[in-house]
Amino acid sequence: MEDDLKKFVLFLEQEIQKLDLPKSPENLYDPLRYFLKLGGKRIRPILTLLGADLFGEKYENALSSALAIEYFHNFSLIHDDIMDEAPLRRTQETVHTKWNSNIAILSGDVLLIKAYQEICKQKAEHLLELMSVFNKTAIEVCEGQQLDMDFETRKSISVEEYIEMIRLKTSVLLGCALEFGAIIAEANTEDKVALYNFGQNIGIAFQIQDDVLDLYAESAQFGKQIGGDIISNKKTLLILKAYELANPFQKEFLLNITQIEDSALKIEQTKTIFAELGVKEEVLKIRDSYFEKGLTALNEIQVSKEKKSTLIKLVDYLKSREV
Ligand code: IPE
Ligand code: IPE
Ligand code: MG
Ligand code: MG
Ligand code: MG
Repeated sequence: MEDDLKKFVLFLEQEIQKLDLPKSPENLYDPLRYFLKLGGKRIRPILTLLGADLFGEKYENALSSALAIEYFHNFSLIHDDIMDEAPLRRTQETVHTKWNSNIAILSGDVLLIKAYQEICKQKAEHLLELMSVFNKTAIEVCEGQQLDMDFETRKSISVEEYIEMIRLKTSVLLGCALEFGAIIAEANTEDKVALYNFGQNIGIAFQIQDDVLDLYAESAQFGKQIGGDIISNKKTLLILKAYELANPFQKEFLLNITQIEDSALKIEQTKTIFAELGVKEEVLKIRDSYFEKGLTALNEIQVSKEKKSTLIKLVDYLKSREV
């Protein structure tokens, strides 16, 4: 990550660590202290700060909104890990593994409310718009998460359905993060729409990259269980493309893989057939097309190139990220 971006991460990290949670009940607050200390890339709150900066507002003035977005994101991860039965997150045990699912549900809920508390710290004249964007986004994320779960057991999913599912579960939050910044900076409607579009498209690319890393990550810092999506039969773009490219014999092979009990074998066989079909390369092309769409939307915004340079650096970082 470039120094310009690191500056924002450090600023956010300091502010997140200031969150003063009560001591008791320990089983409610310890999981949150634990989870928020594990770090994470802090992409979404950076987007909020950069969204404000883009339209000439001091990024510090968007801090509460940025924290709200990060708390909401962390809430969604704690619940997502229960739903996905994930053992690892940010290189450490997930909350429901270290404590239990009931504790993870409730501490996640508190974090969601903390997000609302943060939004309420913004200026009164921005609150209605912030709340309305946030509520719409939060409902869409739930819709996307339910589709993600439903798709696990559905046989055929189209690429369009997959893109809509990831738009809902992931990219609307990136759009919302940026829009929060634009609302605080009082940007005009056209620019706000273009910025939201930028967020949607890079968000789709971001989730496609997440799906690729789920199977192919090599960095020790990746921090999640490799092949988790394969183990739970997630319908990622990798799988959809594999079916598209497979001959009838290979389709049968792919179908049989879903029944394998031994996780290591399941992952190994999936990698073998994906390599045979050139699936990863095809998926990366689609990912890049969404990054490009995002950059086109950014181009439409009526501010100087110089003002956009940090957002472009963030896109460059997202393109090459390994964690
Ligand atoms: C993970 O998000 C969840 C997805 C929507 C893919 P991140 O990859 O941003 O997770 P952290 O916050 O950096 O750990
Ligand atoms: C998560 O998608 C999206 C949300 C948390 C809303 P994933 O399930 O792919 O995210 P990871 O891979 O667990 O981080
Ligand atoms: Mg998950
Ligand atoms: Mg999930
Ligand atoms: Mg994932």
